[in-house]
Amino acid sequence: MTDAVQTQSSDAKFAKRVFSGIKPSGGLTLGNYLGAIKRFVDMQSPDFTSIYCVVDLHAITVWQDPAELKTATREVAAGYMAAGIDPSQSILFNQSQVSQHAELGWIFNCVARVGWMNRMTQFKDKAGANAEKVSLGLYAYPSLMAADILLYHATHVPVGDDQKQHVELTRDIASKFNHDFKTDFFPLAEPVIEGPAMRIMNLRDGTRKMSKSGESDMERINMTDDADKIAKKFKKAKTDPEPLPETLGGLKDRPEARNLVDIYAALSDQTSEAVIAEYAGAGWGKFKPALAELAVEKLAPISTEMARLMDDPAEIDRILAKGSDRAREIAAPILDQTYEIVGLLKA
Ligand code: TYM
Repeated sequence: MTDAVQTQSSDAKFAKRVFSGIKPSGGLTLGNYLGAIKRFVDMQSPDFTSIYCVVDLHAITVWQDPAELKTATREVAAGYMAAGIDPSQSILFNQSQVSQHAELGWIFNCVARVGWMNRMTQFKDKAGANAEKVSLGLYAYPSLMAADILLYHATHVPVGDDQKQHVELTRDIASKFNHDFKTDFFPLAEPVIEGPAMRIMNLRDGTRKMSKSGESDMERINMTDDADKIAKKFKKAKTDPEPLPETLGGLKDRPEARNLVDIYAALSDQTSEAVIAEYAGAGWGKFKPALAELAVEKLAPISTEMARLMDDPAEIDRILAKGSDRAREIAAPILDQTYEIVGLLKA
C-alpha cells in the first residue's frame, strides 16, 4: 500500500504521515471495515507515522447516550485492533483526550467560511429539512475534521468516498490559513481513496450507502454479527434476476450486483475485474453462498477478537490513554506554533 502513499506525497517539506478517524456512533459496519479500517491496516508501515483516532467529539454532534458513547468508543478501538491495527506501531487514541483538537478546531472555525460549510453535502443529507434544529456542532464538524488532520501535519488521509469533500475542505482551510498568515505551516493533505470498497452500498438498496443508522438491520453487516447472521444477510441481499456478466461494464445499471462483486473483491484482496472474470456467467445461487462463506471466513475472526477485547475494557482504556499521550507529543508543539502564528499570547 505504501506505493499510493509515495506517489501521492503532497509536499516535500512534510514527512509522510497518515491520519484517519472513525466516529463511535452506533456500531461498526462492513462499510467502515472495507472502506476504512482494512485499508488503515494495509497502510501501517515502519517507514512513516500512522495515527488512527476514535473521533468521539464528532459523535456528539448528534445526541449520544453517555454510557453508550463510552461503550461505542471502546468498541471502535477494539475494532481497529481486532482488524490488525497494532497500537505499538500506530498511534491509536480517542480524540477528546487530546484537547488540542478542539482548540485548533476553534481556530479553523475562524478560517473556514460559512459559504464553504453550506456546500457540504453530508451536512445537507444529515440535516435534511431539519437544518434549523440540528446542533451547531454538526454544521461546524468539517472544520474540526480539518483540525484532526492538520494538528498532526498529516499528509495522507485514507477514507471512504463519502469523506472526500471533507478532506478537500481541509485543503482549502490549510491553504487559506497559509495564505492569510503568509506561511507554509500546514500541508495540503491528500485524500487516499482507492480500491473496490470506496463506497459499500446498502444490501437492500444498491443506490444508498451502507450506514450505521439505516432503519433495517438486514441492510448492513455489523462487525459484531455472528457467522449465521452474516450468511443470512448476504443470502437475502437484494439482487436482480440476471447472472453475472462477462465484464465489469455489464454491471453498469445493476447497483446491487455491482455492490456484491465489490464486496467480494475487497474481502478477497482482488480487483472487481478479477472477480467478474472468475464468476462470469454464474447465477446468484452460486455467487451468494461463495460470498457469504468468504465474508464469514474473513469477518468472524475479527468479531471474535473484538468480543475478547471488549471483555477487558480497562485494558482498552489503558491503550487509548497511552495512544493519547503519544498523540499529544505531536499535537502540542503544532498547536503552540499555530498560536504563535495567529498571535495568541502563551506564557
Ligand atoms: P465515519 O465514522 O462516518 O466513517 C468512518 C470511515 O468509514 C468510511 N465508510 C465507508 N466506506 C465505504 N463504504 C461505506 N458504506 C462506508 N461507510 C463509512 C468513511 O468514509 C470513513 O473513512 N468524518 C469522519 C470521521 C473523521 C475523520 C477525521 C476521517 C473525523 N475526523 C479525520 C478522516 C480524518 C466520519 O464521520 O467517518
